[in-house]
Amino acid sequence: MQYGEPAGYTPLREWLNKDWNARKGIRTVPEQILLTTGTQQAIDLVMRLLLEPGDSVLVEHPTSPGCLEVLEMQGAKIVPVMGDRDGILPDLLEQHMQQVRPKLLFAAPSFSNPTGALWSMERREAVLELCSRYGVLLVEDDSYGELHFDGLEPTEFYRKYPSLFALDTADQGGHVLYIGSFSKTVAPALRTGWAAGHPALIQAMASVKRIADGQSSPMNQRLLYQLLAHSLFVGVITYPC
Ligand SMILES: Cc1ncc(COP(=O)(O)O)c(C=O)c1O
Repeated sequence: MQYGEPAGYTPLREWLNKDWNARKGIRTVPEQILLTTGTQQAIDLVMRLLLEPGDSVLVEHPTSPGCLEVLEMQGAKIVPVMGDRDGILPDLLEQHMQQVRPKLLFAAPSFSNPTGALWSMERREAVLELCSRYGVLLVEDDSYGELHFDGLEPTEFYRKYPSLFALDTADQGGHVLYIGSFSKTVAPALRTGWAAGHPALIQAMASVKRIADGQSSPMNQRLLYQLLAHSLFVGVITYPC
């Protein structure tokens, strides 16, 4: 019942690193993972850290209200990027990148809220290529990425629809900040999510988090770890169909 590690309960970060991310082809070390109070806090921390009032931010259109509220609070200029059923349109994205010189792009390639769109592999590669060419950080919200009901086994699903963080060839995820959540798979009340990214970015977000709330609940993180590491629960959420 004491305070815990500011970055989050180490066994849970190690579990994420080894068991969860590896399953999705995401290569990380524990120093690249910060446990947060849901993905909502991960979004809030990265925006507080990187944005000045008036900065332009590209967002997949439509996108989740929680992200838009954070951007509005930071005084960001929100630039929606239209898409079709395969994801946001690369030509349009490039135009916006040239015109508004955005600080970052926020998108949810696997089941975006509210459309549920699932980006094609080609679109994933094209968007990542543009982000790396123009030096724009991609904030990848994967809150719903586990919830597929298409009959595909997880390894097959993630091969067809990999996370953009997994696709990024930059050293230690230099172009993508991945954010994940246990709210949609386990329980929103545990308020546990995480950010995975370049160690320097994660360290800077951890500093902002220390100011925001010190740390997320170590007790909830321990409960969650026990559930994930010592039960069949993962098998259940791994095969939702
Ligand atoms: C797309 C998306 N991202 C993030 C969140 C925040 O989720 P949480 O903070 O519970 O992880 C939500 C909430 O429903 C959401 O729909």
